[in-house]
Amino acid sequence: MSKTQLAIQEFENAELENMRAFNAFLQIPSVSADPEMKPHILAAAEFLKAYFEKLGMDEIRIFPTHLNPIVFAEKRSSLPGAKTLLIYGHYDVQPPDPLDSWTTPAFEPTIRGEYLYARGASDMKGQILASIFALESVLKTGDLPVNIKFILEGEEEIGSPSLEGFIRENAELLKCDMILNPDAGMINKDSPTIVYGLRGLVYFEVRIDGPKMDLHSGLFGGNIANPANVLAKIISQLHNEDGSVAIPGFYDRVRTLSEEEREKISRNPTSDADFLAITGAPALTGEQGYSVLERQGARPTLDVNGLYSGFIGEGAKTIIPAYAKAKISCRLVPDQQHAEIYELAEKYIRSLVPPTVSVSFIKHSGGPSYLADDAPGLPNLIQAFKETWQKDVIFKREGGSIPVATVMQKILGVKSILTGFGLPDDAIHSPNEHLHLPTWRKGIQAYIHFLTSFEA
Ligand code: BES
Ligand code: MN
Repeated sequence: MSKTQLAIQEFENAELENMRAFNAFLQIPSVSADPEMKPHILAAAEFLKAYFEKLGMDEIRIFPTHLNPIVFAEKRSSLPGAKTLLIYGHYDVQPPDPLDSWTTPAFEPTIRGEYLYARGASDMKGQILASIFALESVLKTGDLPVNIKFILEGEEEIGSPSLEGFIRENAELLKCDMILNPDAGMINKDSPTIVYGLRGLVYFEVRIDGPKMDLHSGLFGGNIANPANVLAKIISQLHNEDGSVAIPGFYDRVRTLSEEEREKISRNPTSDADFLAITGAPALTGEQGYSVLERQGARPTLDVNGLYSGFIGEGAKTIIPAYAKAKISCRLVPDQQHAEIYELAEKYIRSLVPPTVSVSFIKHSGGPSYLADDAPGLPNLIQAFKETWQKDVIFKREGGSIPVATVMQKILGVKSILTGFGLPDDAIHSPNEHLHLPTWRKGIQAYIHFLTSFEA
């Protein structure tokens, strides 16, 4: 039996133990957005440290940051001249809200059919463990032909505020030849996917203040500007009729899509019907002149992510609210710059605010987009995918954001292999997040092929 086959068999034998560890990891509510969950953030970092100890890693460190710790681990190959693979991951998860919508609680992992349900199952505790289990199986059955380093952060879902500084200060520790970032995903169960583009992000809040307190709408309505009405009107002016974003200058740096690029994007077999099926929306919308997949990966957008004003309890209450708030984000594409887009958005929104109210802004995270056809080690992973799935690999420009890919390219000088074994209907960031276990297990087999492929 080949070394690869031996390792795959080892992985299959470890099923029970692996699922037990997966379950324990998912039970930790490591929600980075909620400061009260900090002890669980620390517990998730400790879980990883303990697992790396069990694996006999050569170096394991938990680096404190201003916020959540970064876990680093390294296993050196015994082969001379071995290359170094850096694996990125995040052990934090999105908040589980709305809690009522979960069939089983978010942090009580439950298997139903072929799916494992829990917050973080797909995004991305399952993806971290996929790489760790693959490494474990290879270590137990033979020589490791490549040096492995892990960098696992706990702030990804809140915009990774500590990560760039950490990478800058620890560039020598993180020195590598290849980077695997499994925080992206697949387009469907039968199509192993390499992501070659990601959108950037800028996130901010707009607050409109009117009267000093909520007012009786009968006594004051008609004379005092209603912040909710004002904010709604502003929001309605953020898009044009053709679906494009109305902020002046927003598209100035957007690269036009070449015919080759459009052709490449269209090779992705995902259909409009797939989008409707996954989302349950009654119809699609978007910027005129672009396909759904172009809009998803290669065109910028602006969306309200949250809206708050006035009385939102049961029943009716007649008031003019004192204030209204909107959380807004833009997904960005090359060569838009998030800081610049924020400035343009703030300037435009200020120009829409009438003198009857005041406006204030809070800027949250910003992150760069990513676009690269190649990355060191990519041919090995493509080959591993082909051997495992016996299917063509799909190349996708994805709509989500993984700013660390660009940060690592800038600081470490290495492009990232972006992949993962989550599916578009895994409900990441939504209630009932789940992971398709057979696809995930296939992915682990592919990683085993990938790791053993570095044998000289
Ligand atoms: N794993 C996702 C991003 C993703 C999902 C990329 C699917 C490709 C395919 C990641 O955890 C995420 O949600 N990122 C945030 C980034 C933000 C908080 C800076 C996002 O995209 O909203
Ligand atoms: Mn993620």
